[in-house]
Formats: sequence, structure tokens, C-alpha cells
Amino acid sequence: MLNYKERNDQYLEFIEQYLNSQCFVDDRAPQQKLFSAMRYSLLAGGKRLRPIFVFDFCRMCGGDWQAAAPFAAAVEMIHTYSLIHDDLPCMDNDDYRRGRLTNHKVYGEAIAVLAGDALLTAAFSYLAAAPFSAQTRIRAVEILSHCAGELGMVGGQVLDMQSEERQCTEQEVLDIQSRKTGALIRAACMLGVLAGEGSDAQLAAASNFAEHLGLAFQIRDDILDVIGNSQELGKAVGVDQNKNTFVQLYGLDACNHLVHQHTEQALENLKEFENAEFMSMLAKKLIDRTV
Ligand code: IPE
Ligand code: IPE
Ligand code: MG
Ligand code: MG
Ligand code: MG
Repeated sequence: MLNYKERNDQYLEFIEQYLNSQCFVDDRAPQQKLFSAMRYSLLAGGKRLRPIFVFDFCRMCGGDWQAAAPFAAAVEMIHTYSLIHDDLPCMDNDDYRRGRLTNHKVYGEAIAVLAGDALLTAAFSYLAAAPFSAQTRIRAVEILSHCAGELGMVGGQVLDMQSEERQCTEQEVLDIQSRKTGALIRAACMLGVLAGEGSDAQLAAASNFAEHLGLAFQIRDDILDVIGNSQELGKAVGVDQNKNTFVQLYGLDACNHLVHQHTEQALENLKEFENAEFMSMLAKKLIDRTV
């Protein structure tokens, strides 16, 4: 049995190696600038939480987690594209991400938009080519497109932008956060269950786990926007002050409490799985993360 650190390192090494060696490496393609912009953001580090969710839910369902690499990479590609676009001047207008200049600062806005588009598109070809049954791959496409698109992340980003113009209710803020951040985390956990051929009950439990964990994660992100260190985070802080976040609504103390509460609710769902110690520890570590 691996301990927490060993398992975490194993997942991280595997996804880094996969992304680096399997993704956008064709050096004969004439559109090298695009490939380079895609790899610049994809290989810039990041916590790789979503791939870890894919791997570990697959493992908890008794599956071969390494076979789930194309699913893990696909979610990370969509997450990376969402960050490239989120940082654009027309959105959050940020200069730093994952400890380096944002994509558009290096490659210009047009290439940054197109690198995001290409990462989004490529994600689905990785799902389609994964070593699973056609039915599993089609369900994966269905889940990821639903979570990433107009009802999920993209929809949440639109509501997030519009929320700058007025005061939102608690329900509205919950809805924004569960779409813009929760949805992709939900896709990651559910794709892991699909890859591991888990039961319908496990699929539902993974979805509920992610719903609460995603909220806890975004509330912590908003807390870090106030108390975090930009050097450590690899991105600017103090940039979401005029957005409708829980921190704006309730202040830091109440938000710390909410992070605990949603993490507890997330953990309830791990009862559906065997060998859930790693995931349980990961969820608890995210409560007071500083990165
Ligand atoms: C940042 O996500 C954007 C949010 C959805 C809050 P992460 O904090 O997971 O970013 P990386 O992948 O580690 O850079
Ligand atoms: C971004 O939320 C969520 C995405 C879909 C990218 P934020 O705008 O708060 O993320 P950061 O703080 O820039 O990473
Ligand atoms: Mg944003
Ligand atoms: Mg942002
Ligand atoms: Mg933020």
C-alpha cells in the first residue's frame, strides 16, 4: 500500500510525463507557434488536481488508473484552455499564471485564443481514442461536453462576468461557482468512475463529492485572492474584489467555515468507495491550501 505522498507523486509524475511526451509534439507541423503556445500553458505546472481526481476515482473503482491517462489529459486540456481565456484582457486581464507570464503576454491575444480553442478541441479526440469500450467513451464525451460547455464552465464564466455589475444572492453565487469551477471537477471525478467501470451509485457519489469539493475549492480560491501570496500562487492576488464571491458576501471567517462544511459534505460520499483514504486526505489538505 502506498502512502499519501507516494501515491500523489506517482500520479503527478505519470501525468507530467504523459502530457509532455504524448501531447502536441509534432515538430514537423508548420503551425509550430500554435503547438508551442498550447504546450507553454499545458506544461506550466499547476497542481494537476483534475487528473489526480480521474486517476484516483478510477483506482477506487478497481480500474487500471494508468489506462485513464487520455481522460485525465483531456480534462486538464480543457482546464488549461479555460485559464488561458480567463486571463485574457477581455476577461480577468491577468499577467501571470502558474508562475509565468500568461499565454497572451507571450504569444499575443490571437494565438492565445486559438491555443485555447485547439486545447478544447483536442480534448475530445483524446477521449475518443482512450482504451475503453465505445459506450464508455461516448458517455465520457457526453459528461465532459456538458460540464465544460454552456451549462457548465463556460456558462459559469459568463455569469461570473455579469455578476460584476450587481449584487448577487447567495443562491446565485452558489450557482456561478458550481458551474465555473465545480463542473470540471465533477467531470474529472465522473470520468474516473467511468474509466474504472464503477457502478451507477459510484457515479452519483463521485458527482456529489465533486459538487461540494468544487465549492470548497472555489471558496478557498477566493479566500486566497485576499490572503494569498502571489509568488507562491503563481498568479496575481486582489484581482477579484469587485466580483460576487462568498468572501465579498460574508467575509473571511464565514468562508473558512463554509470550506470546512462543504469538504465534510464531500467526504460523506466517499463511503461508496473502497480504499478512499487518499482521496479523503487530499480533500482535507485542500481546506487550508496556500497554492
Ligand atoms: C484555478 O484552478 C482556477 C479555478 C478554477 C479556481 P487551479 O487552482 O486548479 O489551477 P492550477 O491548475 O493549479 O494552475
Ligand atoms: C476561474 O475562476 C474559473 C475558470 C473557469 C478558469 P477565477 O478567475 O477565480 O480563477 P483564477 O483566480 O484566475 O485562477
Ligand atoms: Mg475569472
Ligand atoms: Mg481569473
Ligand atoms: Mg480566483
